Amino acid sequence: MTDITATRRDDTARERFSPSLEALLARLNPEQLAAVTSPRPYVLMASIPGSGKTLALVARAAWLIRRGLRPTQLVALTFSRKAADELQDRLARLLGDEGRGVWAGTFHAFGASLARHYARLLPRGRTAGFAVMDRDDSRRAVKRLIRELDLHEDPGDLTELLDRAKRTNYQALAALPDAMRESMTRLVPAYEAVLESRDALDFADLLIVPVRLLENHPDIRRQLQTRWHHFLIDEGQDLDRLQQRLVELLVLPVDGVASRDRTAPTLTLAADDDQAVMSFRGASAQFLLQFTEVYPGATVINLGENYRSTPEILLPAGRLIDHNRRRLPKALTTQNPPGPVPEVREFASDKEEAKYVADRIEQWVAEGLAPVAVLARMSAVLMPIARACEQRGLSVRVTAETPLVERKAIRDLLAYLRVLVNPNDWTAFERVMGVPPRGIGAKTIAQLQEGVIRQGVEATLVFAARQHKGLGALLVLLDTLRSRMRGPAATLRTLIDTLDYRTYLSRRGEPGETERLWFYVEELIELAEGWESRHGTDIREFLDHLVLSEADESQGTSHQVVGLTLHSAKGLEFDACVIAGVEEGLIPHYRHAAFDDLEEERRLLYVGLTRARTLLLLTVCHERMLWGRPWVFGPSPFLAEAKLGSDGRRPAR
Ligand SMILES: Nc1ncnc2c1ncn2[C@@H]1O[C@H](COP(=O)(O)OP(=O)(O)O)[C@@H](O)[C@H]1O
Ligand SMILES: [Mg+2]
Repeated sequence: MTDITATRRDDTARERFSPSLEALLARLNPEQLAAVTSPRPYVLMASIPGSGKTLALVARAAWLIRRGLRPTQLVALTFSRKAADELQDRLARLLGDEGRGVWAGTFHAFGASLARHYARLLPRGRTAGFAVMDRDDSRRAVKRLIRELDLHEDPGDLTELLDRAKRTNYQALAALPDAMRESMTRLVPAYEAVLESRDALDFADLLIVPVRLLENHPDIRRQLQTRWHHFLIDEGQDLDRLQQRLVELLVLPVDGVASRDRTAPTLTLAADDDQAVMSFRGASAQFLLQFTEVYPGATVINLGENYRSTPEILLPAGRLIDHNRRRLPKALTTQNPPGPVPEVREFASDKEEAKYVADRIEQWVAEGLAPVAVLARMSAVLMPIARACEQRGLSVRVTAETPLVERKAIRDLLAYLRVLVNPNDWTAFERVMGVPPRGIGAKTIAQLQEGVIRQGVEATLVFAARQHKGLGALLVLLDTLRSRMRGPAATLRTLIDTLDYRTYLSRRGEPGETERLWFYVEELIELAEGWESRHGTDIREFLDHLVLSEADESQGTSHQVVGLTLHSAKGLEFDACVIAGVEEGLIPHYRHAAFDDLEEERRLLYVGLTRARTLLLLTVCHERMLWGRPWVFGPSPFLAEAKLGSDGRRPAR
């Protein structure tokens, strides 16, 4: 078997591990150590939650670098920017600043960077500075097209469908009912024309474009394979087909597996099929079963010991997941000392639930267990609890389904940055025109839109600015800002001052809302500063990394209470966890109760249960207010499957 560590073996000085790496290696169990130091080209760490996959990935990176791999030859593909930062920080602690040379980021950011690099091969109308339409931008574009094409479907549904169709090379369209398929047949070309006229790629394109690039250009594939030597991937169970394909193209030898030599890239992937929760985005953990066929010479190492949780938490978690039929069989074991049995509480209303949970959290925080996590299937369930905690003076951060970059204020400022770096970014320009209002009305915008399609953004604007004072002033303002543009943080500050953005916020919002919005703005500036200290001052790159994360990015760790959806809790751990609303209809969610979905819902609760180290509280409400009306629910059947709350204690009501 090829020894991937053989590169630059001569470099004996490096053979001595740094003390901290040695200390880390000494901590690992035999399976982890085998994965970290494996000489095999492809390693799959298939394992259970809390078994040290992420830790082992970091150790593997450090080990490979110590054995001669240059950090710039390593790429870590993650699901969130936060995970990428975390990985780079940990490597920097182990290896010094050298560790920062690793390229770490989301699949989408990686795709964007590849696409920009090979801009001459982009789809028609796209330049190296192409704009990225995020999901919200796409939704807006679809909404407008629905009106123009006189379609009748829901914009949200069509946007999701469009995304899925693109990701499956339009195979998803075949299964649609006739009327829907007809709508899509008209929508797709119109939507693609919008992207082209705006010099933009959407989220799906950021994976599709690199995959096509590598499929159609073996020379580029070869070139990249000499540049990157090792790929690290965490949460591999949530890769969709395109992401899987991209990895194959990056890693597998261009001329077939037989030609594999010691310079072909290698791969370490960590995954747990029981934690696959992204199938609604087209992810499929099936490929884990075929890993050794796709990657010949691969070794599969099972990490079977949980270091995170007490046996009392793992027992019900294991019972629950055992009800799933489609899974790799495995056991949940731990040598951790015993702890309290998870508590299940039933309440008549969400008010009572909020009061009880807040009391309990207050007590835990006093015992030094902050941050305490409150998890739920939907963020709406978290809100009464968050408010009750705030009333007790606890600091609370709810990282809801609205990530920071989707907040209105943040979108305003980012739209400005986007226009500053790409004057043709029409999507962003539309937003900028109304922030603050400049008397540019719907009629003018409609005219501009037509102009943009016919002759492009810049020409249209220059012409229109002669007739419209507000627009003219905006173009002058943008030119001035462009001439003073520095890194993202400084540019944001200049922008906020120049626009007098805080005053604008206070005029626009409800009293009291300004503070909340301003908080997000400050968070954005902090984020930009953090970015600059790690990655430099390129605004384009900052935008790519910021926008291109599917996951919620809010930090939250400096707060005493962190509210999270079960989806966004992936990869995290807490001493004490509350899972609120463990009710039939919420989890499993009433819209996802068919067989396949049910298995995914079960995995979602499993992810939730396994976030807790020692303390776990689950709540059930018999009536709760959601979206302004009361809903009646019963306990989730998952509780019985896990034998939770059936230890003879009477539920409190
Ligand atoms: N060999 C080990 N010895 C002690 N603690 C470990 C070991 N491996 C992992 N851990 C700890 O267990 C917890 C879970 O590790 P993590 O890497 O997050 O697991 P996973 O990614 O598999 O869910 C972390 O707190 C980590 O530091
Ligand atoms: Mg992990």
